[in-house]
Amino acid sequence: MTTKRILILIGVLAILLVGWFVLAPPRVWLNMTKSVEPTAATGAQLIEQYECRACHRIAGQGALKAPSLDGITLRSSDPVHVSLRLWLLDPRAVKGDTAMPNFRLSDSEIEAILAYLIETDQSK
Ligand code: HEC
Repeated sequence: MTTKRILILIGVLAILLVGWFVLAPPRVWLNMTKSVEPTAATGAQLIEQYECRACHRIAGQGALKAPSLDGITLRSSDPVHVSLRLWLLDPRAVKGDTAMPNFRLSDSEIEAILAYLIETDQSK
């Protein structure tokens, strides 16, 4: 192989690698690059950052294009909220044709958002 071919091959591999990390980032990578303090205060910030209120009503504010999330942590009989975590992890895994985008949240971001939703529901 000539040097030119090797360089082209490296270029193609680099593009594929970048494409992979952008389109379907592995969880280890998300957890490394989007590691946050899993507290309710962080959760409140993330809900602003990801604009969840463009669709959901949360703590009395936001649109009603999607189910209101107020009281959501009280409605289920699951004390550890597995299904809410799954919604945040991969909405299409719960409902194939859902309008909810996959935000590629890290594990700690999911915990922070859940902590905020729980705190909001408890404070009522
Ligand atoms: C583009 C609109 C949209 C945005 C933005 C959005 N969601 Fe959703 N979400 C939905 C829809 C629609 C559903 C209901 C699923 C369905 O029935 O298709 C849903 C469902 C959910 C559920 C499950 C509700 C239940 O009844 O079990 C949770 C939790 C949730 N979203 C949290 C969030 C959070 C947190 C954010 C921000 C990080 C967010 N969503 C951003 C549209 C959105």
